[in-house]
Amino acid sequence: MGPGKEGLQRLDRDKLHPMQVQQFGEHVLKLDVLEKVWMPTPHGVHLGNMICTMDFRDAKVLELGTGCGLHSILLVYRGASVLTVTEIEQTSMDNARHNIEKHGVQIPVDYQIADWTHVEGGPYDVLIANPPFGKSGKAYRRYFIDKLILDAHTLLKKGGRLVFVQSSMADIPRSIGLMHECGMKVRVVGETDGPFRDYYFDHPDYIVEMAQVPGAYSVRNGRHYERLIVFEARV
Ligand SMILES: C[S@@+](CC[C@H](N)C(=O)[O-])C[C@H]1O[C@@H](n2cnc3c(N)ncnc32)[C@H](O)[C@@H]1O
Repeated sequence: MGPGKEGLQRLDRDKLHPMQVQQFGEHVLKLDVLEKVWMPTPHGVHLGNMICTMDFRDAKVLELGTGCGLHSILLVYRGASVLTVTEIEQTSMDNARHNIEKHGVQIPVDYQIADWTHVEGGPYDVLIANPPFGKSGKAYRRYFIDKLILDAHTLLKKGGRLVFVQSSMADIPRSIGLMHECGMKVRVVGETDGPFRDYYFDHPDYIVEMAQVPGAYSVRNGRHYERLIVFEARV
């Protein structure tokens, strides 16, 4: 399938970042990302790399907050057979649709404008997300992570998998504890570390807040690093 005309027409081609060319496993993605759409970060890149080590054959998959759509494309390349993708607003959704169609995805894709876990069409085999945290816009910053864990059983089939990435800044032991409390069997798919992004230093309060999270970050040769971890949890 070639690029979807509808998606291309909706994208304002003058407002695109330079094309993001990125290799994930054996797959090279050439992503168009609008200036106002979430640009893949080290978190998203790590999740993409981990997806490429996993098997999603014949899975009915839900991706929440797809952004530019990179993970959806990789999920299909790893065998997903039916896909639902969500975004909170139309521009990101149009952008994701454009990239998904551009990368030749031929399975059925249901595009839903939805507020996080308020999604129709389940239950699913796999639920996947890179939840907002640093820019969650919530006083309780972990809101989207906690909701993902707490609501997973309403979206997934019994034995289904929740796959998500989070930073050590968002308190890894707390997420593992919550998943255990929810009766999930937790596996670490893989972890890496990434340098702080510049915006972390924009608000001194944010650094103070993070300094209170056990193991939130490390400093090596004067540079701050966070751990990035991908979990797979079975309900
Ligand atoms: C951390 S970004 C991840 C984007 C993409 N999955 C990636 O990894 O590059 C979180 C995404 O969730 C979307 N989002 C924010 N609030 C949301 C909500 N209430 N419901 C659904 N999506 C939301 C944002 O627009 C953004 O695209």
